[in-house]
Amino acid sequence: MKKTARLLTALLSSFAFAAPRTADQIKASGTLKLATEGAFPPFNFYEGKVLKGFEIDLGEAIAKAAGLKVEWTVQPFDTLLIGLNQGRYDAVIASHAITPERQKAVDFLSPHYCSTVNLVAKKGGPVTEAAMKGKSVAVQVGTSQISRLKAIAGIGEIKTFPSDQANMQALMSGRTDAWASNGPVLAYMIKQTKLQNQLVMGPALSVERNGIAVAKGNKALQVQLDAALKKVLNDGTYLKLSKQWFGQDIRCK
Ligand code: ARG
Repeated sequence: MKKTARLLTALLSSFAFAAPRTADQIKASGTLKLATEGAFPPFNFYEGKVLKGFEIDLGEAIAKAAGLKVEWTVQPFDTLLIGLNQGRYDAVIASHAITPERQKAVDFLSPHYCSTVNLVAKKGGPVTEAAMKGKSVAVQVGTSQISRLKAIAGIGEIKTFPSDQANMQALMSGRTDAWASNGPVLAYMIKQTKLQNQLVMGPALSVERNGIAVAKGNKALQVQLDAALKKVLNDGTYLKLSKQWFGQDIRCK
C-alpha cells in the first residue's frame, strides 16, 4: 500500500465505530479489552512505563476469574465511556461513580469499591462545604464530583482540569483555593509528593459507589463479569489486593 493510503486507512479506522463485542465473541477471542485512565493513583496510574494500581490488579483478577487475558487501552478520563459505546474496548475500570446520568449511557457491574469525595487546600484554606463560599476549586473534567461541588451553596468558580495532577498544580500555584477528588487519591497524591506539611484534607462531602462499565445493553457480558467480580470478592483475592493498596477493605458495605 502507498504511504498516503496507509495513513488514510489508519485515520479512518481510528474513527471507526464497531458494535460492542458480545460475551461469546470475547470468549472466543480469549482476551478482554479493558480501558482505564492511568492518572488516578493508586487506582490506575503509571510508574515509569508500567500501568499499575488497584483497578489494574482487580481488572486482571476479574478477567482471570472469567477465563480471559487482558488487553489494556489507556486514554483520557472524559473519553472513556464514549469509546465504550463505540466498541473500542469491552469494559471500563476507572473509578466511575455509578450515577443515574451515566446509567442512561452505559451499564455498570455492582460497585467494586466505595469512596468519599473530599476537598484539599493549603493550610488555613477551605476544606469544608461552609468554607467554600466564594472560593474556587479545581476538579477533573467529566467527573461526578463536579455536580457535588455545584450543590455547595455560594461556591465560587468550579475550574475543570484534565487530571488530578493538573488539579494539584492549580491549587499549588494559587490558581484555585481548593482541589476536590476521591479521598484515597487525594491522600495518596499528597503523600507521594510529600506535601503533608502544606496541604490539609477536609471531611467527606459524600460517598460514591464506583463501578466497572460495559456498553449499554451488553447484558451477557455484564452478567458474566459481575459473576467474576463476585467470585473475586468472595474468594479472598479482593481482600488481598485491597489490603495491599489501601491497608483496608474498601468494598461497599
Ligand atoms: N469517581 C469520580 C467519577 O466518577 C472520579 C473518577 C475519576 N477517575 C479517573 N480515573 N480519573 O467521576
